[in-house]
Amino acid sequence: MSAYQPVTPEIISALQAAVGADAVTTAQAELELHSKDQSHHHAHLADVLVYPTTAEHVSSVLRLAHEHLIPVTAWGVGTGLEGSAIPVYGGISISFEKMNQIVQVYADDFQVTVQPGIGHKDLNAILARQGLFFAPDPGANATVGGMLANNAAGIRTVKYGASKDNVLKMQVALADGTLINVGSRSVKQSSGYDLLHLFVGSEGTLGIITEATLKLVPVPSLMSAVVAAFESVDAAVEAVVAVRGSGLDPAALELIDAAHCRMLRMTENVDLSDHPTLFMEFHAAHESTLRSGLDAVKEICEELGAISFRATTDPAERRQLWHARHHSYEIMVRSHPGYQFFIMDVAVPISAYPALIGYVEHLKQETGIVAYMIGHAGDGNIHVEFPFADQDEYERCMVMNGLIVEKALELGGTSTGEHGVGLGKARYMAKEHGGALDVMRAIKQTLDPKGILNPGKIFIG
Ligand code: LAC
Ligand code: ZN
Repeated sequence: MSAYQPVTPEIISALQAAVGADAVTTAQAELELHSKDQSHHHAHLADVLVYPTTAEHVSSVLRLAHEHLIPVTAWGVGTGLEGSAIPVYGGISISFEKMNQIVQVYADDFQVTVQPGIGHKDLNAILARQGLFFAPDPGANATVGGMLANNAAGIRTVKYGASKDNVLKMQVALADGTLINVGSRSVKQSSGYDLLHLFVGSEGTLGIITEATLKLVPVPSLMSAVVAAFESVDAAVEAVVAVRGSGLDPAALELIDAAHCRMLRMTENVDLSDHPTLFMEFHAAHESTLRSGLDAVKEICEELGAISFRATTDPAERRQLWHARHHSYEIMVRSHPGYQFFIMDVAVPISAYPALIGYVEHLKQETGIVAYMIGHAGDGNIHVEFPFADQDEYERCMVMNGLIVEKALELGGTSTGEHGVGLGKARYMAKEHGGALDVMRAIKQTLDPKGILNPGKIFIG
């Protein structure tokens, strides 16, 4: 990696010639704004930041970087949680801030083609006028490009899938600047290797997404919300499995653990008891479907010993019921002044979810470490959130992180369900993937022989 070349004044001039003088900056303040995502990983400055407006700009930047052996890291809006967009080797950061346009809406096909820098919430605000939406929702207003590069998922995955399930076609700039199209606007395609899904989740290490055609769904006309508390995580997870098995098709099925509920109640007076609590959402086209669904969910929860059950089909009440889940992160941050947070992410098959959560509880008791759990229970995905105030506490969290990842792998799961490998999970890749990691390395070598694309991520050494 030491063979990388510095970003010289000549390189800056060449970049300016390629993308325009106004679209290239080395201003310290701007570099700092693009040096760290929302993870616990350390900031690192790029040497130069460029703001392309077209795929051809991205292609020109890569051609130059490829020729001169300069690292290139793509930047969406910095909402990542595993350091994937931190330019740890310096070089060029490409900000997609100005590539944020809708290229075309194909309403009859339930598709939209976008530039990668558009925020998914901004996209959905525009699509709503046509009664359409892009379903994956990682919480923050991540860019579509970042979501695809990371295969972000979030709270609606249980019904609509992750980012990978909601993309049909992409234009990608390869390491040497060549632009290719992968996938098809046909929802079915069985021709050739599935390059589309090779680039999705590759975190900018194989190519840089310059355009994407997304699958859309009609905005659901009716929604309901359920909040149900249980005596134990096991009972809550039994309810998750039963709800999923009932064919009720929840659009969200989230768990907040007892410690997190307690913290939300103590600090914001949120109306929750100190018990594992499930948050559910259901979508339907008819009121009667929604209501009979709610009756069925109530029956399931009560049979499994729910100690409280609240449900509504009223939009304002629904927002209020879900407030605690949607704002849990901000509330947690507000309630721990002076602390930083380390949010970890693992996922297991749903049957192993109680074992995973039981293990985290056991570690918390054994060590006395403060941690909260919030999870996309419908997907077997959990985030353990650790507040830390100093290096010692941080290192203790890291040890916990390692143990939880090992446990998730042992339970047949993954080191990351949705936050990506980035910097933090690279050390677990060999354990998770075994010989398949060599195949990944070979693919990386083929597509990026000079190693200029987002170096330092996914692979160690
Ligand atoms: C969430 C992020 C942490 O689920 O993935 O809120
Ligand atoms: Zn999440």
